[in-house]
Amino acid sequence: MSEKLWGGRFSGDANDLFLKLGASINVDIKMANEDIDGSVAHAKMLNHSGIITDDELNQIVSGLSEIKTEFNNGDLEFSYQNEDIHMNVESVLTEKIGPVAGKLHTARSRNDQVALDFHLYLKNRLPDIISLIKKFQDELVNLADQNVETIMPGYTHLQHAQPISYAHYLMAYYEMLQRDVERFEFNQKHTDLSPIGAAALAGTTFPTDPHYTAGLLGFQKPYNNSIDAVSDRDFAIEFLSNASILMMHLSRLCEEICLWSSYEFKYIELSDEFSTGSSIMPQKKNPDMCELIRGKTGVVYGHLTALLATMKSLPLAYNKDLQEDKDGVFDTVENIAPILTLLTEMVATMKVNKDKMLESVQTDFSNATELADYLSAKGLPFRQAHRIAGELVAECINQGCYLQDLSLEKLHNYSELFEADIYEDLKPDVAIQRRRSFGSTGFTEVQKQINNAKLKGDH
Ligand code: ARG
Repeated sequence: MSEKLWGGRFSGDANDLFLKLGASINVDIKMANEDIDGSVAHAKMLNHSGIITDDELNQIVSGLSEIKTEFNNGDLEFSYQNEDIHMNVESVLTEKIGPVAGKLHTARSRNDQVALDFHLYLKNRLPDIISLIKKFQDELVNLADQNVETIMPGYTHLQHAQPISYAHYLMAYYEMLQRDVERFEFNQKHTDLSPIGAAALAGTTFPTDPHYTAGLLGFQKPYNNSIDAVSDRDFAIEFLSNASILMMHLSRLCEEICLWSSYEFKYIELSDEFSTGSSIMPQKKNPDMCELIRGKTGVVYGHLTALLATMKSLPLAYNKDLQEDKDGVFDTVENIAPILTLLTEMVATMKVNKDKMLESVQTDFSNATELADYLSAKGLPFRQAHRIAGELVAECINQGCYLQDLSLEKLHNYSELFEADIYEDLKPDVAIQRRRSFGSTGFTEVQKQINNAKLKGDH
C-alpha cells in the first residue's frame, strides 16, 4: 500500500518528477494560516455537531495552534512529498497528536478545503487593498486642493487642447479610483461566501452545520450549492479583473508622470526617493518606479487572462487544473499593496512646476476655442466662427506669434465682431473661470468636486 494519505487504493508509488510537478506547496504555503484557521473552525463544527468528542477537539485544536506558531516562527519544513498545504499540515498534525488527527478530515474534502483557504486569503486582504486605494484618493484630493488655480494645458491626442486646472486633472483620477473602490467592495460580497461543508462536491452524510463554520470564520453565509462551492473561482477572476482595471488606471497616471518629468515637459519633478540614476549618464534621473508599474500592469493582465483560460470549458466540479488558480492572485495582491503605498508617497513628494505648466499654456493655441466661442456668442454660426479661428491660428503660425499677439486691426480683417474684450477671453485663467458647466474645469466647479470628495471621504 502507498504511504500517501490517499494511499489505500494504490500498490505502487507515484513517479517522483510527477510528484514534484503536481505539488503546489510552494504556492499554497502562502495560505498556511488560512488553512489552519479553516481546520480549527471545521473541527469546532464537528464537535458542535456531535461528530467528534471534546477531547478529540482539544487535541486537534492545540496541535493546530502549535503548528501555526511554529510555522509563523519559521520552524516548520513542508515537503513536496505531501503535495500541498492541506496534506502537509495534516501530516505534521499526525506526527504531533497521532491517529486522532485523521478525524479532522471527516465530512471534508481538499476540494472544499482549498476553496475555503482561497476565499479566506482574499477576504482577509481585500479590506487593506480598499483602504490603500482610499489613502491614495485622499492624497490626490489633498494635492488637488492645493492646485485649484494651477493652470496647465489639457490634452487630447497628446496635443494641447484647452487650458485646464491641474486639480481638475487630478480629480479625474480620484473618480477612476472611486469606481475601483466600488468594484473591490462588490468583489467582497462574492468572496464572503464559505465553501466548507460542500465536501468533494455532493455534500456529506454527516450531520454537519456549514452555517456554524461560516459564522466562526466570519463569512456572511455558506454557498447555496455544494457543486458551485467547489467549482467557483468567479471571486478570484473578479479580483483579477478589478485589479487589471485599477492597474490600467495607475499605468495611465504613471505614463503621464514619465512624460511630464521628461526634459521636454518639465511639469513635475519626482523626489530622489522615487527616482534612479544611470550607471553611465551622470545627468539622468529616471522615473523607474512609474515604468515598473506600467510594466507590472501587463503582468496583472496576464494573470487575469491565465485564470480565464484555465476556467474556460472546465467541467464541474473540481479538476486539478484549478490548482493553477492561486499564483497569479497572490502575485497581484503582493504587488498592488506596495504599488498603492509607493504611488501615494510619490505623488505627495513630487514637485509641481506651476510656472512651466502656465508658460506652456501661454505659448500655445489652446485658447483658439475661446476665440471661436467669442464670435459665436456674438451671433456667428459656430462653424463659421471655428473657420475664422482656424485661419487666425494659421496666420499666427506664419507670423510666429500667438492669438493674443494679434492686433485688433488684424482681427478685424477676419471679422468685425471682434472688440477689445476678446483679449480678456484669450487669457487661460479667464478661459477656465468662464467654464461653469457641471463637472467642468472652472475653478468653482473643481472646488465643488474637491469638496464633495472630502465630504464623501469617510476614510
Ligand atoms: N492542491 C490542490 C489545489 O490547489 C488542493 C485540492 C486538491 N484536490 C484534489 N481532489 N486533488 O487545487
